[in-house]
Amino acid sequence: MYMKSVLYSIILILIMLSLTTCYYYKEDIRYSKNQCDTTNITFSGKVVPVFAQNCLICHGNAVAPPDGGGLRLENYADVKMNITRAFGAMSHAPGFFPMPLGQSATIDTCEIKIVRIWKDAGMPDN
Ligand code: HEC
Repeated sequence: MYMKSVLYSIILILIMLSLTTCYYYKEDIRYSKNQCDTTNITFSGKVVPVFAQNCLICHGNAVAPPDGGGLRLENYADVKMNITRAFGAMSHAPGFFPMPLGQSATIDTCEIKIVRIWKDAGMPDN
């Protein structure tokens, strides 16, 4: 009887240990996924996808006003002209209209960072 409960305890400890290992393994994956690649930031390669994934459903050229408030963020000229408002909106900066509309959380912080770096570099059309 005593031996049996010792055995169960050992098995339980082993299960707990394997779960802990699994947990740390998952953390590692999450960490690497969260690394933000800020190399080779170009308008077409890195900035356009941010707007495409998060904004164009409401601010694309195909969207008819009044949806999206008539604001378009699909091509270079439109993004450049509206960058202050667009960046303020996506970073939820005070005094700006938080976007995407209806979402309390901002978009991925890496995407915000990419747009900021491009903006600070003088918004090259590349
Ligand atoms: C679900 C639809 C939707 C999505 C997605 C969305 N927007 Fe909007 N956005 C709107 C609507 C609707 C308005 C007009 C709001 C109004 O004027 O009342 C608006 C307005 C704006 C404005 C103008 C705010 C102002 O100063 O008047 C900016 C800038 C903007 N959006 C940027 C963005 C950016 C950047 C993204 C992506 C990160 C985005 N939006 C995603 C619907 C959306």
